[in-house]
This record gives sequence, C-alpha cells and structure tokens, in this order.
Amino acid sequence: YEIYLNGLAGQLPPYSTDVGRLEQAVREKLDPGPYWYVAGSAGTGATDRANREAFDRWRIVPRMLCDASGRDLRTELFGRTYPAPVALAPVGVQSIVHPDGELATARAAAALGVPAILSTASSHTLEEVAEAAGPEGPRWFQLYWPHDDEVTLSLLDRAAGNGYDTLVVTLDTWTLAWRPNDLDQAYLPFLRGTGLAIPLSDPVFRSRLARPVEEDLNAAIMQWAPMFNGRSHTWDRLPLLRDNWDGPIVLKGIQHVDDALRAADAGMDGIVVSNHGGRQIDGAVAALDTLPGIAAAVGDRLTVLFDSGIRTGADIFKALSLGARAVLLGRPYVWGLAAGGEDGVRHVVRSLLAELDLTLGLAGHRSPAGLDPSVLSTR
Ligand code: FNR
Repeated sequence: YEIYLNGLAGQLPPYSTDVGRLEQAVREKLDPGPYWYVAGSAGTGATDRANREAFDRWRIVPRMLCDASGRDLRTELFGRTYPAPVALAPVGVQSIVHPDGELATARAAAALGVPAILSTASSHTLEEVAEAAGPEGPRWFQLYWPHDDEVTLSLLDRAAGNGYDTLVVTLDTWTLAWRPNDLDQAYLPFLRGTGLAIPLSDPVFRSRLARPVEEDLNAAIMQWAPMFNGRSHTWDRLPLLRDNWDGPIVLKGIQHVDDALRAADAGMDGIVVSNHGGRQIDGAVAALDTLPGIAAAVGDRLTVLFDSGIRTGADIFKALSLGARAVLLGRPYVWGLAAGGEDGVRHVVRSLLAELDLTLGLAGHRSPAGLDPSVLSTR
C-alpha cells in the first residue's frame, strides 16, 4: 500500500519493483566491465539459464478459504530468530557498482534485521563493515579459505572479534572459472586492487610481504593470488575450521547428496545448496534441482540454505517449499546497490519480502513453516 498511496500523491517508486527492469536501468549507467562482472556467469551461461528454468518448472498450487491473515515470516537460523527467511549472499568487490559497496549493504541489512554475509573479497575491511552494521546488525563472514593456516586463523579471529557470528565457507570457487564476459573485457576487479581489502589489511598476511602494501601493491596482489586461488582444500582439513570457530559453520556450494552427508558427518551446522549463480561451471545442474534430494537427506541434521536463480518472492516461496530453511539473495540486491546504494538494497529486499508475504497468503499459508513440496506441482 505504501507504493500505491505514494502514487495517489503523484509519486512513483524511485526504482522498479521488478528485478529484471531494475537490472536494465542499472545496465544503462554502469560501465561494461563492472556490469558484466555482476551479470555474467561461466561459459555460455547455460547453468545460469538452467537455474532460472528450474524455477519455472515448479508451479504453486494455491488453496482457498484459508485464514492466512496475521502472516509471520520469522525464521530461526542457528538459534537466532530473524524477521524473514532471507540473508544477503556474499558478493565481493561491491564498490565496483557503488562507492559505498559493502558498507551500504551492511546498513540496509541491519535496518531490516536480516544477515549480511560479508565476502572475503570485500572492497571494505571487515572492521569497517562491522562498524557500518552497528552493534545489532546481524553479520556472517564468508571465508575464501587461504592456503596459509596462520592467515586463515587471523581472518577467523578478526571476524569473531568484530561480531560476525556465523562462518560461511565457500567451497566451489577455489579457482576462478572460465568467464568469457570478464575475459573479453579483460576485466578482473581484483587485479585493480578492488576486493582485497580484507587480506591486504590482515596483519599476518602483511607480515608475509617483502615490502609493505603501500609501497608495492602489485607484489602484494601477486602474493595473495596463490594463497587464495588455484587449488582446493580437502575434507580432512575441515577440523582446522571446526576447532577454531566457536559459532555455526555453513558450507556453501553443495550440489551432491553425498557431499551434504559428509558435511553433516564433519560436524558442520549448515550448507548452502548453490552453484554460485552459475558462475563456476558451464552446463552444471540447476541448483534448485539438487535441493529436494539434499534437503530430504540432511534436513534433519543440517540447516539447509539455498541460492542461485532467485529473482522474485514466488521463487523464494518455491525454494522454501522444496526444503530450504532460508535463501540467500544474490544479484538482485547488487542491482539495488548499483541503483541507489543503501536505499536501493533496502528497496529490493523489501520488495522481494512483500511479494513473498503476498504469495504465501494468496496460496493459503500463514508462515514458511507450512510449506513443503506438496504445495507445488511440476509443469
Ligand atoms: C558472487 N558470489 C560470491 N560468493 C561467495 O561465496 N563469495 C564471493 O565473494 C562472491 N562474489 C560474487 C560476486 C558477484 C558479482 C556475484 C553475482 C556472485 C556468489 C553469491 O554468493 C551467490 O551464490 C550467487 O550470487 C547466487 O546466485 P544469483 O542469485 O545471483 O543467481
């Protein structure tokens, strides 16, 4: 109603309420390098398209004459109650689309009470982002796991010391994929020094450098690359994280039931069923198609989160119905950030939650707890 009432006073919403139209508007104002870095995906984009097609195959079956008033989106994750079943996915290098970058995202998330997951590839330090979020702003930290254990422990210490209470370990991006959009633009934000604020400010990483960052940024970047990129850790290394992180640990990028079972056996608290928004493997399985099997296998042992392809509130409804406890929003909020900084991020998240709330009610449900696969049908 807020939007319609403003309309009566002749005031249109400052940004589109449709994520596709918002992206188009942003595309006109961003340079091609940053635009394609965000919009692009791996190879021919087949995985990204598959993510979207998978949502389209599921259809919501509404029920009538239900009292769906007094709806409640509150969701418990790892012992804490959040106002809605969404978090903001870790997205690195956010200053390429807006100078406030992750600071704006943290402020928007704090205002709405939803977790913002800070990427290791942030363009601001984790201390700066914690300050922007304020003492109450829920914040999780996403680890790109270095191959130097002392640097890893230093990042974990800094995160815990700055109030990040949940650790999200991204497994699917141990090396950067074949991304023709970025290759054709010869555009990699990291090589321009963007997205390295966290390692470059890290005292242990800095102690590894022959010359201070301020004197030789390029040498620091070249030293960072092999430490974070190029080879994967293995399952037997997880105790390092488990032994050195007191809060919940969530493994991001799980696509196979057996990997989900291994995560549970390894004492993890949650997983994110995700294919990184189709940015890593071209021609991979749609993330949504892997969700029901994984949720059925480990839903009673792990908190199952989901991302990759969510563009609407109805998409959130579908992912929750197929077994996700909550979803991570990816590109949509980045378009909001590009359009209007903190205000733009808030607009996108509020719009998606409003649509989720309406969809839930119109389908005959009061809360996400009432959702399961039986509320959907396949085309
Ligand atoms: C990402 N993603 C990501 N994930 C992560 O764990 N650490 C990171 O630094 C980044 N960086 C990043 C940058 C950009 C520009 C995008 C678009 C994505 C992946 C992200 O967390 C999430 O998995 C996807 O964005 C979900 O897919 P959709 O919703 O964007 O399709």
